[in-house]
Amino acid sequence: MDAKTTPKRGYADFAEHLDRLDGLGLVRRIDAEVNKDTELHPLVRWQYRGGIPDEERKAFVFSNVTDAKGRKFDMPVVVGAMAGSRAIYRAGLGVDADGVGPIWARAIDKPIPPVEVSGAPAQEIILEGDDLKGPGKGLDALPVPISTPGYDSAPYITAGNFATRDPDTGVQNLGTYRGGLKAADRIGVRMSTRSGGAGGYPHWLKYQARGEKMPCAIVLGCPPVVAYTGPQKLPMGIDELAVAGGLAGEPIRVTRCHSIDLLVPAEAEIIIEGLIDTEYLEPEAPFGESHGHIALEDFNMIFDVTAITRKKDALFASIISQVTPSESSAIKRDAYEQMFLSHLRNSLGIRGVQNVVMHEPLSNIRRVIFLVMAPGTPKTEVWRALYGASSLRADCGKYVMAVSEDINPDNGDAVFWSLAYRANPAEDVVILGHRDGGHGPKGGDRGSDGTMLVDATLKHVSAPLALPKKPYMEHAKEIWERLQLPPLSPETPWHGYSLGDWSDEWDALAARATDGDYLSNGERSKQMRAKGIKPNTPVRDVLKAP
Ligand SMILES: Cc1cc2nc3c(=O)[nH]c(=O)nc-3n(C[C@H](O)[C@H](O)[C@H](O)COP(=O)(O)O)c2cc1C
Repeated sequence: MDAKTTPKRGYADFAEHLDRLDGLGLVRRIDAEVNKDTELHPLVRWQYRGGIPDEERKAFVFSNVTDAKGRKFDMPVVVGAMAGSRAIYRAGLGVDADGVGPIWARAIDKPIPPVEVSGAPAQEIILEGDDLKGPGKGLDALPVPISTPGYDSAPYITAGNFATRDPDTGVQNLGTYRGGLKAADRIGVRMSTRSGGAGGYPHWLKYQARGEKMPCAIVLGCPPVVAYTGPQKLPMGIDELAVAGGLAGEPIRVTRCHSIDLLVPAEAEIIIEGLIDTEYLEPEAPFGESHGHIALEDFNMIFDVTAITRKKDALFASIISQVTPSESSAIKRDAYEQMFLSHLRNSLGIRGVQNVVMHEPLSNIRRVIFLVMAPGTPKTEVWRALYGASSLRADCGKYVMAVSEDINPDNGDAVFWSLAYRANPAEDVVILGHRDGGHGPKGGDRGSDGTMLVDATLKHVSAPLALPKKPYMEHAKEIWERLQLPPLSPETPWHGYSLGDWSDEWDALAARATDGDYLSNGERSKQMRAKGIKPNTPVRDVLKAP
C-alpha cells in the first residue's frame, strides 16, 4: 500500500495534533531567537516552577532556534506537545478525563496490528553515509536541546520512542528512553536494567548471547497515540504499535526502516536508525532524570547511526522531564492511575475504591499513592486495597494512603488534615519491608526499601466541618466578585458539610439563628436547664434531645 493513496487516517500525526492543540488555545508560539543549549528548556521549566496551574500550561513551539555556537536551525523545536498538561495529553487521546480509563482498557484488551505502507512521509529525506559524518551533519544538524544546562553532559533526545525486536519471537517493543548525543553518528542510550525496567533490555541480552549487534530505531515526533504507549507499562511481549492501534481504533500505518529491519510509524517526523553494540559500553550522563535528581555517569549502550530519515518540513519534538510535575510525569500519570484502579476494582474485585491518585509534584507519581474510598467500605476491604496497590508494581507504592471521598489528594493540606483527625498511627499504619529500591537517585544503600500503608479514612461519624454551609459561601462569593475583590481560586473544602454527627434539631437552631430568631433558641435552652451536671457534659448524654 502506498501512504499517499491509502484511505484517510482517523488518527492525528504529530503536526496535525499540534494544529488541534492550537485550535484549543493550548500552544505558545515563540518567534524570538532562543538558544537550545542554554535557554530553551529553562524557559519552558518556568511553566512548571512558576506557579502556573496545570490548566494553564501549554505546549511551546520555538521557530527561531540557535545553539551555543550561534548556529541556526531550520527546524522548529516543540516542547510539551505530548503531555505538557493533562488537557494536552487528553487532547492527544481525543478523550476527556472520564474517557482515559476506557480507551486504555480497550486498547490493551483489543490491540489492532499495524499495517505496512510504502512512500512514508517519515522517509521523504534520507541521510546516510557521509551525510552522517562530521560537524553540522547527521545528528549535529538536529536542534536537540540541553535539558538541564549546568548539569547535563550533552544535548539529549528525550521524546524518542526506541523500537527494538525480540530476535526469538519477532515481536517488537517501543519504549521511551533518553539518548545523549556523542557524535554526528553516535548516541549514548540508557535502558533500565532493573525489574520492570526497559523492554528493550531483554532484547539486547538476546542479541548479546548471539554475538550480534541490536538493530534499533529512534522514532521522534510520533502520532500521539503511538507516543503515549512508549512510557506506558504494558505486559512484556505486547507490541506497543498494536496497542497504539487499539487507542486509535484502526491500524497504525508503519513502514520498514531504510537501513534496518524494523517497522516504525510511517507518519513520524524523524527516524534515527542504527545498531546498538552488545559488546562495548561507554560512559553516559550526567543527565537530569525524572526522579528529580541528576543521573550520574554510568556505563551504557552505544548506538551507531546507520541512517536518518525525516519529513521535508519536520518538527523536532522534545519532552521536558526532570523534577516533576513535568511532561514526563503527565505522559504517564493518567494511564498509570487507570492501571491501578482497574487492578483494584477488576482484578481484586474491591468495589469501594472510587479513585486512585498518584502524587506528582517532586515525588514523581510512583512513590506516593492515594486510594479514595467510598463511605462505608469495610475496613478489611480498605486494607485489601492498600496491600493490592502496594504490590502491583515493584517500583510503585512506597507510601499508600486510603482517604475518604471528601479528601482531595492533590491538596497536601487536606491530606494532612485527614491524617491529623482520621488516622490513629498506633492502629491505622502498617510498615512492610523488602521493597525494591525503585526509580531514584543512586547513593546510600539502595538494596531494598520499605512500604508504609495508612488507613486515613473516616472510621466513625464526626461533627460537621466548621465552615458556613454551601449556600452562604456561594452567596458571599457573588458579593466578593461584585465588590471586585482579588480573584478567588476556591480550595476544597470551602463550605461546611455533615460528617454524620448532626441532628434536625441542631439544623433548626442554626436556621432560627440565620433568620434572626436566636432569642427563641435562648428561650429553648432556658426550658432545658438542669443541675448537678459537670460543665462540658454533652446535652444528649443527659436529655433525650437533641
Ligand atoms: C521522557 C522519558 C524518558 C525516559 N527515559 C528512560 C530511559 O532513559 N531509560 C529507561 O529505561 N526508561 C526511561 N523512561 C521510562 C520508560 O519509558 C518506561 O519504563 C516504559 O515503560 C518503557 O517501555 P518498555 O517497557 O516498553 O521498554 C523514560 C520515560 C519518559 C517519559
